[in-house]
Amino acid sequence: MRMRNDVVRRGRLSGERTGEMMHFLSSMMADRHIADADILVDIAHVVMLSKQRILSEETVRPLLSALLGLYDEGIPETAFDDLYEDVHAGIEAHLIASVGEDIGGRMHMGRSRNDEVAACLRIRLREDVLRQLSILFRLRATLLSLAEEHTGTVMPGFTHLQYAQPTTLAHHLLAYEQAFSRDCDRLSENFSRINLSPLGAAAFASTGYPVNREYTARILGFDGLLENTMDAVSSRDFALEMLASLSIMMTGVSRICEELILWSSSFAGFVSLDDAFCSTSSIMPQKKNPDTAEIMRAKSASLIGAYTAASATIKGLPMSYNRDLQELTPSLLRGVEDAKHSTSLLNDLLLTASFNRERMREEAGKSYSTATDLADMLVRNCGLPFRTCHSIVGRAVQKGILDREHLDEAAISITGSPLPSNSFRESDIRDALDVEKSIEQRKATGSPSSLSVRSALAARNMKLEDDQQRAEQRATALKEAIDALIQDARRFTLEQ
Ligand code: ARG
Repeated sequence: MRMRNDVVRRGRLSGERTGEMMHFLSSMMADRHIADADILVDIAHVVMLSKQRILSEETVRPLLSALLGLYDEGIPETAFDDLYEDVHAGIEAHLIASVGEDIGGRMHMGRSRNDEVAACLRIRLREDVLRQLSILFRLRATLLSLAEEHTGTVMPGFTHLQYAQPTTLAHHLLAYEQAFSRDCDRLSENFSRINLSPLGAAAFASTGYPVNREYTARILGFDGLLENTMDAVSSRDFALEMLASLSIMMTGVSRICEELILWSSSFAGFVSLDDAFCSTSSIMPQKKNPDTAEIMRAKSASLIGAYTAASATIKGLPMSYNRDLQELTPSLLRGVEDAKHSTSLLNDLLLTASFNRERMREEAGKSYSTATDLADMLVRNCGLPFRTCHSIVGRAVQKGILDREHLDEAAISITGSPLPSNSFRESDIRDALDVEKSIEQRKATGSPSSLSVRSALAARNMKLEDDQQRAEQRATALKEAIDALIQDARRFTLEQ
């Protein structure tokens, strides 16, 4: 048993807690990640109490000086002792110890750890969203520049993992860029719901002090309020939707990793991954294993796990705050961290990968991959319905030869008569089966032809630039708000 002067517990509760109990109950490990945000929340709360004349200047000045000291020099290790229930109690105890209870004991007027922790999580998470977005922007830029480089890199396209129709590596990579772009859209929307202030809600029913919720929200850079004070302390859907967005994003990461793993296998030989991202075997000296991509594929499962744990934590909770909510934070932080590293390393993995154009081209025309084009040619030249031509070509594929003779044979077996004479030449068959021609005639928006890919590249680059600008504006607004808050607090401590 260890004794401690716990400022929160000492009044109501006696009975010492064992070290095991305290460690089990404390959120300190996760709270390390929200401690910086907590100082900002403390400063903003005190500034607001002062503006509202709830606290006198004589109290506010030393309080703000002490808080600015923590902001400038960092929070001492003693405040992180997991004998405190959380970092909020740890910091308050530290303040009381350093400036005395008559000053430090007034900071917590009109608030609760319930609105405090929700605010800290939101402040931390809004930074995480912006960081994740900037990594996704880099990843998208890499995919776009690889696509530009590989506009003419012909490869087999798959459905059901069977050779289906030829495409280009550019087209394939642009598919991922588009998916990651939607992930950016989702995260950007999440930001607008994350960046709302719960402060002033106190335990859940707000307070009788004349607090100014709008003011605290504004000086902390929040875009608005979570109005209902019960909702403000008890909702964690902002965390759920972030984890949901990251889980969705990670399914994309996992899929591209799965492809890199497949493509780097000897039977494909489409890509060679940089050694730094690979490992070898402790017994088989020849092995080069794509471990980084495999770990990323698994991290996608961890994210789904984090989301599942977080949503299951919420679903049975009555209003308003329940301590269960504390258990959500580690899942959230872990999910955010795993997603960040996975996407950042995926970018590096792609940048250093070398794609084997020859091997891809070699495989592109295999397994009758242009049979659809042949059916289309018959439709155009023979005036037959597509389904009839589809059956004729299918039957010829069954026999294994795609020439006039076998197409006629197939036509007889399907329709009872050969294809109309003089409707096409052998050279029309050759052209229809030509891999490059097959790709180049696909000119509709978003298709693999070089024309379509080039216009997609232009549009995608523009969208990326727009997205980047919007995120930068948000980052600047946050930085300006926090800089102004700290400046105001400093000015206040200097005023006589
Ligand atoms: N450590 C707590 C959490 O993460 C902070 C709020 C504690 N509130 C309370 N009433 N015990 O949720």
